[in-house]
Amino acid sequence: MQNPAAASHFDEKLLDLSTSIDQFEGYAHAHALSIALIADAVAKQFNLAPHDRFFMQQAALVHDIGEMVMERDYIKAHRNLTDAERVDLQRHPVIGEQETARRGFSRAVQLLVRWHHEWWNGSGYPDAIEGAQIPLAARILRLSDSYASITVDRSWRPALSAVDAKQFLVDWAGIEFDPEVVRAFLAVDESVYSPTAPAETETAIEYNTNEAQ
Ligand SMILES: [Fe+2]
Repeated sequence: MQNPAAASHFDEKLLDLSTSIDQFEGYAHAHALSIALIADAVAKQFNLAPHDRFFMQQAALVHDIGEMVMERDYIKAHRNLTDAERVDLQRHPVIGEQETARRGFSRAVQLLVRWHHEWWNGSGYPDAIEGAQIPLAARILRLSDSYASITVDRSWRPALSAVDAKQFLVDWAGIEFDPEVVRAFLAVDESVYSPTAPAETETAIEYNTNEAQ
């Protein structure tokens, strides 16, 4: 696990589940945990309440659980998807919502999983909600998921540098991403969520987990 200090704040069963999802998707590192760290750093910029940050991080850890439940071979194929596969894959947020409900996650987590692919301009899925209709935590997850994804190498495309990835977020602000969330992310010191600086990540998550149980 790349951020042991941060990981220690999470329930072990939840981390195991998150690791299973990462492995199913072919990530060799703790991808979902990276998303949780980025999301929390951004949420702090908005003074998001501790319980909202807690639910958002739980959702980050299991956001693609629907993909694991669907168990499609093409997810592991490590290539660009066909149109039909892309449409099929777009079912994963709703299946993820159902799976998190089945596993007893809170309704807040279920809905964040459902909405982690909604776009600021309304062209996301599954509900095509837009702007402030999308909960702030889901808007933060969209950006965090994108940034964490494009900055790692995948077999079908190389990683973007941090500079290029940030430019991507800026280019898509107002389209895919909430411009205010992009602004908040750019204001966060990279060391807070960088996997090469685990010591600094310890302070990124300081909520009291007891209050959300
Ligand atoms: Fe997803």
